[in-house]
Amino acid sequence: MFERPPVGEAAVIVHIAFGVDEYDEADREFRELVESAGAEVVDHIGGSRKVPDPRYFVGGGKAEEVAESVAQHKAELVVFNHDLSPSQERNLEKRLNARVLDRAGLILDIFARRARSHEGKLQVELAQLQHLATRLVRGWSHLERQKGGIGLRGPGETQLETDRRLLNDRIKMLRGRLDKVLARREQGRASRQKARTPIVSLVGYTNAGKSTLFNRLTGEDIYAADQLFATLDPTLRRMEVPVGEPLIVADTVGFIRDLPHELVAAFRATLEETREADVLVHVIDAADRERRSHAREVNAVLAEIGAGDVPQIEVFNKIDLLADEPARIEHDAHGRPIRVYVSAERGDGLEELRTALADFCHADMIEGQLRIPPAAGRLRSQLFELGVVSQERHADNGDTLLSVTASQADLERIITQAGLTLHDVLTGRRVVQLTTWSSSAENDITHASPE
Ligand code: GTP
Repeated sequence: MFERPPVGEAAVIVHIAFGVDEYDEADREFRELVESAGAEVVDHIGGSRKVPDPRYFVGGGKAEEVAESVAQHKAELVVFNHDLSPSQERNLEKRLNARVLDRAGLILDIFARRARSHEGKLQVELAQLQHLATRLVRGWSHLERQKGGIGLRGPGETQLETDRRLLNDRIKMLRGRLDKVLARREQGRASRQKARTPIVSLVGYTNAGKSTLFNRLTGEDIYAADQLFATLDPTLRRMEVPVGEPLIVADTVGFIRDLPHELVAAFRATLEETREADVLVHVIDAADRERRSHAREVNAVLAEIGAGDVPQIEVFNKIDLLADEPARIEHDAHGRPIRVYVSAERGDGLEELRTALADFCHADMIEGQLRIPPAAGRLRSQLFELGVVSQERHADNGDTLLSVTASQADLERIITQAGLTLHDVLTGRRVVQLTTWSSSAENDITHASPE
């Protein structure tokens, strides 16, 4: 439908400095991105300007230099590490006689290849079409051509109008489908919040190994039959941990420097999982020389989407590529896990990671027995609904004795709603704790109910 010159393998890349800040780092990343989109970089054209030129983004002389390079290397593609306006892109394509891709187009292309979930694919396609829609303007010769074709055109339409109509229909259809997916996601989120299942969100620079780790941690456990999980997107799966209830793990899109805003908007729903997560697993490619700057970029994007305050565990992945980096957990001064070294591919360090996550998410987990008076029958059914009861017995005086494993916060919330206190009803308890870092929960309970 959209007749653009096919993507060429040989690419000339253009990156202009508008200040001196981090040009080299940004440049390296740009080159990596172009390569990961499948192109071969045959020439790099740099330069500096104060402001973009309205016609070609770069100045006339620079445009000439790019055109010469394209001719010399027989490049079919020119990628700019900048956002181009539709008319700049058009002018450049004419001037350079090559396909021109701007930064947003490049990133959309990479995301399109990597989108995994149904929702992710819809989101990328929508963002791509919206990006394209702004470029579908009169004067783009190859789209304006009158073209026949049964079923392709409405009465009296030019090809441009047909393209525009088909594009708008497709955008509308994608929006409709996404709305449905979003509604299901909302439902899923509501029921997870009700049960307060902790959510771990995987974040990381593109190619760090998030998906490999995600698959390793969750296996093929999609739990389609389980009510709570039945409505989840495939990027959310359940993960068993050594102690306490399973956690939910969310895989997110790969992060990169200056994620274009149209993509942030497109991935809003996926990124919301990140903002609402209990803990972020920040996957870092330990074998990548640029790991520190990539990690900084990830943190900058996290701050931008409002997830800067969510606690983080850093996971240094791909230790199999390094000498002398055994799988292990590192703790901070309070004994809280902060870093885990793993090889997702080999499976090394995954038990350590599960332990660290259980530790983090179930820090206030208590196991004990609750004595529920007959008058508080509703509390009993709420505890069952929460799925925290492992055994029920009846005392002689008519009280119900429930063995539970739950977070202290959850228990306090519903017990207080019933007009009682945790201290009133908790009879025996064992604090479920894995490591040494003492949570306030542990201390409170020890005081409230000595065994
Ligand atoms: P995006 O989809 O771009 O966000 O990437 P991702 O972070 O999900 O990375 P992915 O899991 O797709 O892995 C990227 C590449 O790294 C793949 O080629 C993996 O096979 C490889 N990889 C992942 N984990 C390891 C590891 O522990 N060791 C080694 N040597 N390679 C790994």
